[in-house]
Amino acid sequence: MNFELKTLRLNEAAAGKSGALVVLVADDFKAGEDAISALVRRAIDGGDFKTEAGRMLQAYGAVRVMPPRLILAGIGDGSAASVRKAVAAAVAALKGGSAKDIALCFSGPATGPAVAAAVHAAADASYVYTATKSKPEPSKLARVLVGVPDADADADELREAFATAVAAVRGIQVAREWANRPANHATPMHLAEAARELAKGARFACEILGPKEVSKLGMGAFMAVARGSEQELRFIVLRYTGTAKSTAPVVLVGKGITFDTGGISIKPAAEMDEMKYDMSGAASVLGVFRSLAELKPAVNVVGLIPACENMPDGRAIKPGDVVTSMSGQTIEILNTDAEGRLVLCDALTYAKRFEPSALIDIATLTGACVIALGGVRSGLFANNDDLSQALVRAGNKAQDLCWPMPLDEEYAEGLKTNFADVANVAGRAAGSVTAAKFLQRFVEKTPWAHLDIAGTAWKGGAAKGATGRPVALLLQYLVDQGKQVLPATPLKASRKSGAGAKASAKVQQASRRGKPH
Ligand code: BES
Ligand code: MN
Ligand code: ZN
Repeated sequence: MNFELKTLRLNEAAAGKSGALVVLVADDFKAGEDAISALVRRAIDGGDFKTEAGRMLQAYGAVRVMPPRLILAGIGDGSAASVRKAVAAAVAALKGGSAKDIALCFSGPATGPAVAAAVHAAADASYVYTATKSKPEPSKLARVLVGVPDADADADELREAFATAVAAVRGIQVAREWANRPANHATPMHLAEAARELAKGARFACEILGPKEVSKLGMGAFMAVARGSEQELRFIVLRYTGTAKSTAPVVLVGKGITFDTGGISIKPAAEMDEMKYDMSGAASVLGVFRSLAELKPAVNVVGLIPACENMPDGRAIKPGDVVTSMSGQTIEILNTDAEGRLVLCDALTYAKRFEPSALIDIATLTGACVIALGGVRSGLFANNDDLSQALVRAGNKAQDLCWPMPLDEEYAEGLKTNFADVANVAGRAAGSVTAAKFLQRFVEKTPWAHLDIAGTAWKGGAAKGATGRPVALLLQYLVDQGKQVLPATPLKASRKSGAGAKASAKVQQASRRGKPH
């Protein structure tokens, strides 16, 4: 789908060639001299159109309006949330029709977040899953024009918000696509191929490790999960370089359980199909890289994906088994269904070699997080307040919300065991927190955040499917990080000054450049 941002007055929109024109009308609508303004005014005064977000009035073949379909859509206070609701409703209303391109036209002042919301809603509403349909329903909407009244002082802010949103929706599309695919069409090998394909021609590198390399690295916890499956594990390493190589990267780690049966601690049958989305963290990392390739922000990013299935089998790990993680810590696997933290802990240990400025893992980690926060906000756990706040801010800005959760040491009590350094589960209480406490043991001092997306990555009910969250949040965070680098400062020397510092920067640079294993 193509997106374009343009200065467009209502009279120009009425003369445009799009198949459908959606006029976004806020509570404080001020009528101009044009035909559409007059129509809006009359509809409001006549009581047939309310500007509340989500309310609409539709017409076909309206006089002096070129686009055959016309929708007046209320956007209430004009906030991002209201615009999102309005555009979602309008695009849904057009879905049965034949319009291939639409113009979404703000009838009053627009803000960056509002423009971004329009892009997100249009992309969301027109996504169609096709991968495993024999007669795929074609995605009709090919072009979306976002019209804003005039290029005012905020034009830069508008343009930036628009560009970020367009890059984000491309990434979200990738994340949704992979999370929706059934596990037999989204194996660890398929994910690795997808990563390779994404890296082709883009400005990032992709390296795929198989069982041999992973065994050499000593990833005993990751291998323990994978051993119950016929599908070989893959460890995917992506590297995007948007700024000086010496700048410490942000490392993203995505849980890539391509199917979670629970293993020997097997899950009940009801809704087990949904465990194909247990690689949504991985899908979001792939999505973010797709977005980075498009937007090219000035930041370095490493993406790590431990990918495997969690299956019951004669070779599978059993409750009570003790394995040795890459960090050297031994783990008693009391419940084989707590497999996410096992694959993640080794990836977190691996991440340290990049000396990250921030380490963020993204995982559909616990059912307990679904109970705690539902589908509205992702659970956010962090050992660093600045990082936590930056992620909350990014989430708010990108309309992809998260909420800080606690990490008090007392929550780790239940992970103690007589038979290993740590157990992989604690009791039922505070399940999402104890899972995060387990992960925290493997990051030590690195600024780290964990996003539990079990509730937000997937929707049940009629709209059953992947949401593509938290690609928008992560991309916004990375874009904001990119802005913190002052372009005027020579980047190599910017971390410290003096000859000694330069030498140490060089060493770090070399260690980062070197083969990661
Ligand atoms: N993948 C699940 C978590 C999950 C549950 C994601 C529901 C999405 C929806 C994870 O591997 C898991 O099974 N967690 C267990 C942990 C428990 C055994 C401590 C859970 O949440 O029940
Ligand atoms: Mn599980
Ligand atoms: Zn899982």
